[in-house]
Amino acid sequence: MGVKVAVFGATGAVGKEMLTILAERLFPADEIYALASRKSMGMEVSYGEKDLKVLNAETFDFSSVDLVLMSAGGEVSKEWTPKITKAGAVVIDNSSAWRMDPDVPLVVPEVNMDALDGVKKKGIIANPNCSTIQLMVALKPIHDRIGIKRITCSTYQAVSGGGQAAMDELWTQTKGIYVNDSVDPEAFTKQIAFNVIPHIDDFMEDGTTKEEWKMVVETKKILDPKIKLFATCVRVPVFVGHSISVNLELEGELSADETRDLLRESPGLMVIDKHEDEGYVTPVECVGEFATFVSRIREDASVENGLALWVVSDNLRKGAALNSVQIAEGLNNRGLLK
Ligand SMILES: NC(=O)c1ccc[n+]([C@@H]2O[C@H](COP(=O)([O-])OP(=O)(O)OC[C@H]3O[C@@H](n4cnc5c(N)ncnc54)[C@H](OP(=O)(O)O)[C@@H]3O)[C@@H](O)[C@H]2O)c1
Repeated sequence: MGVKVAVFGATGAVGKEMLTILAERLFPADEIYALASRKSMGMEVSYGEKDLKVLNAETFDFSSVDLVLMSAGGEVSKEWTPKITKAGAVVIDNSSAWRMDPDVPLVVPEVNMDALDGVKKKGIIANPNCSTIQLMVALKPIHDRIGIKRITCSTYQAVSGGGQAAMDELWTQTKGIYVNDSVDPEAFTKQIAFNVIPHIDDFMEDGTTKEEWKMVVETKKILDPKIKLFATCVRVPVFVGHSISVNLELEGELSADETRDLLRESPGLMVIDKHEDEGYVTPVECVGEFATFVSRIREDASVENGLALWVVSDNLRKGAALNSVQIAEGLNNRGLLK
């Protein structure tokens, strides 16, 4: 018997990708439903070769499914997740609503798959922030081998991280600038076309943004509470693919060559690191890929046991939909969906 699945937020940037990946990876779904708000009722979304009619989430009977992949934002998740788990389905949520709840596992399958057992507490698994996920995949092997004391990083985050409306804004602004149309920002706080914006999510009291804070607290929850992290999160005019420039202070020595060898053997990673033109990965090349790519591995002589990396991944896939589907596979394989 397969699994009965609903994708909640199926018309969104992440939801569409979830349906594609469920089909690509042959997830054993007996039945699959595409849910969104009332305004999208009757629209069609692709699930492999098939088209699914979008249903109104408000009137859907959640007791008819085993699993809900949720990607409809934090407020919608806070309202609907408790109702869905009460109806008996497990929820894998993409928003930040449940990530720091001590009774909700925050999971990157390559890093802490065993945490999935915690689903028994509330019936919810949280998918981490997109930048955190790719960072964890790259750093877990290094932390296991030698220990990471401190991480400093700057992100270069694609507009798709802000959803479909943000992608549309980059497209419209870029075209508009060529014909002297106004560039009034709506999805972003400033012009995004031909610009970069060092501001993602709301500001907190100490001047950190919530996106930066999420990277700190989620890294501690997933990898190790002792690790210190400082992040600057920047939105860039790229449609898909987040990049992170990472500097590490390690507990001991790990050369660039040893790091390359270690990461080449580690799950979910591809090392492309040649010291020549095109010997590294940029966001455009990671689109549609499952892997997280690591390039520009260097020893950083400015601190003791310093190491620098460039980490790139498809934020809609590994940063969201793929990670959720891997979690679903893990739950199913462990018999945690019934
Ligand atoms: N994009 C990323 O890289 C990324 C990465 C990690 C996590 N996430 C998180 O994933 C979630 C979704 O992101 P997204 O980028 O896919 O956003 P999006 O493109 O704006 O899509 C939002 C989806 O949620 C649905 N929705 C919104 N309000 C609803 C309601 N009241 N009832 C039912 N459905 C509702 C929308 O349906 P309608 O079309 O009918 O409005 C749409 O399907 C967010 O929490 C986001 O933070 C995104």
